Amino acid sequence: MIKKRLRKPAQVLATASASGGEWIYSKTVKEHFFHPRNILLKEPKKGEFDAEGAVGNPACGDVMKMWIKVEPKTQRIKKLKWRSFGCATAIASTSMFSQMVTEYGGMTLEDALRLTPQDIMKRLGGLPPYKVHCSVLADQAFKSTIENYFQKFPEEAPAK
Ligand code: FES
Repeated sequence: MIKKRLRKPAQVLATASASGGEWIYSKTVKEHFFHPRNILLKEPKKGEFDAEGAVGNPACGDVMKMWIKVEPKTQRIKKLKWRSFGCATAIASTSMFSQMVTEYGGMTLEDALRLTPQDIMKRLGGLPPYKVHCSVLADQAFKSTIENYFQKFPEEAPAK
């Protein structure tokens, strides 16, 4: 029974670290870390995006930058790119976040703003408790980007 339970969560994977300890991450986290979606490694071209944001994580000093392109009529996110000087979890979390907001034709800004770090963690198959703060980086960078978007396009900002 226990054996079955240990094998069943196909998403959970143990990788030995160089020090001989073990890190527990889901297969999805590993996949997004090694193949990050929507990462932007060069400076964006002029006019390529509608808004940008950046945020630092006070817990560790890591930094996340983000850019978005929005379809004005529908307010759907057509493109979201990011770059991070952060840890593996921050990379995997932001990669997953970028996929979530751009898949199926893109989320509306309103719906994307409702996403929480818990939603990202769920799609990643969980995170070790001490890495939860890393998933917050994507969420905060997105909020900073949206703030910049509404500053540039105040007519699209929700009525207060
Ligand atoms: Fe800094 Fe993960 S340790 S974002």
